[in-house]
Amino acid sequence: MAKKTKKIAVYPGSFDPPTDGHLNIIERGAKLFDEVVVAIAVNSSKKPLLTIQERLDTLKVLLKKHRNVRLDFFENKLLVHYAREKKATAILRGLRTVQDYEYEFQMALANKQLAPEIETVFMMTDSGLSHLSSSLVKEILSLGGSGKNLVPPLVEKIVHQKFKK
Ligand code: COA
Repeated sequence: MAKKTKKIAVYPGSFDPPTDGHLNIIERGAKLFDEVVVAIAVNSSKKPLLTIQERLDTLKVLLKKHRNVRLDFFENKLLVHYAREKKATAILRGLRTVQDYEYEFQMALANKQLAPEIETVFMMTDSGLSHLSSSLVKEILSLGGSGKNLVPPLVEKIVHQKFKK
């Protein structure tokens, strides 16, 4: 009998910081794929608050309970090249609102052109999380607001510490 190929998806993002919305997509993605690689990527147009190491350390704790979720980071390469290296057949992305659509559609088409064998799979963000973004979280926490229902307590603590500095 032919050996079953593992279905691997890469879930890329800046995760600066990771939010409840990201974790929701990861949890659900882990049920669809044999393995999900959460890949912290460097988006050159963004000025991050957390270092890559801080994001890796935080996500490591948050993702510990998922046996089929791996954590990694990449920079100075295309997402599709990274996905090929990981032997992934899918790129997992969350869709929050119609505003996401155009940007995601453009990225998915560009990635498809670069690597036709890799499919972009979109997952609708659960209701109650669709307004969330890392920037919104940073703004709320920087002004002393609560991170409840936005980010896990660990993320709230780290972001608060960062702003204190
Ligand atoms: N819940 C909450 N927030 C979410 C979310 C969810 N489910 N999904 C996305 N977001 C938010 C993020 O918090 C982020 O918010 P911010 O802009 O306030 O930081 C925003 O949506 C989108 O960010 P993210 O999903 O992290 O992607 P990105 O736009 O920062 O980066 C990459 C996208 C990394 C995938 C892309 O830049 C890339 O592929 N880079 C590698 C180079 C490459 O291949 N480029 C060509 C691409 S065609």
